[in-house]
Amino acid sequence: MSSREKQVAVITVDGPSGSGKGTICQLLARELGWHLLDSGALYRVTALAARHHGVELDDVEALEVLAAHLDVRFRATDGGDTQIILEGEEVTHAIRNERVGEDASVVAALGPVREALLNRQRDFAREPGLVADGRDMGTVVFPQASLKIYLDASAEERAQRRYKQLISKEPGASLDDILNDIKARDARDMNRAVAPLKPAPDAVILDSTLMSINEVLQAVLDEARHRGLR
Ligand code: C5P
Repeated sequence: MSSREKQVAVITVDGPSGSGKGTICQLLARELGWHLLDSGALYRVTALAARHHGVELDDVEALEVLAAHLDVRFRATDGGDTQIILEGEEVTHAIRNERVGEDASVVAALGPVREALLNRQRDFAREPGLVADGRDMGTVVFPQASLKIYLDASAEERAQRRYKQLISKEPGASLDDILNDIKARDARDMNRAVAPLKPAPDAVILDSTLMSINEVLQAVLDEARHRGLR
């Protein structure tokens, strides 16, 4: 671990798909004026790059090379959003579909791919601080983080949230299918041999099932305040 990772304040937010991590991390980073790492986007971009280059998802060696040399940039827009550029092409929205998410969780189960993306993630730790969103931020990537949050919610509630997001874009979306996908993704993320999704021993566990986004944000900010991070 480099000296920079030890010094720069890091808040990690780990948890399953649909727990609200993405939204909370964006709001938190904005509120604190810190950098943001969306580590899931790196796995999604790796999966998309594999499709573009015709690499099969069981070809571990080729995926490792792809991840190690991934030409990806995160570009801040004037409006405060982040654009994701893969090999010169904007893929911000293309990586958000269900198929890329599924592929990402297959690619993310491979140790050599995770290893190849490790330093790229750690490089995001810069002053004045970093909010890191993922599955293994507190357990593997930033074990020295100043504050570790594990954000959970019931699978049913997470499926409902996803359904509400999707239904306007995909009128045929089925709640049952979404729930099954979420359960399959949970099982893959939690049971894989490398960096499985689990709370770090020193994580603060928040269950957002019955909480609003603002309540979760305030709870995290309170924890940050207790640790002198604000
Ligand atoms: O968070 P998001 O849904 O974008 O992540 C896509 C997939 O990438 C997850 O289902 C998970 O399998 C994988 N992932 C991971 N470790 C991370 C972030 C994401 O394994 N730190």
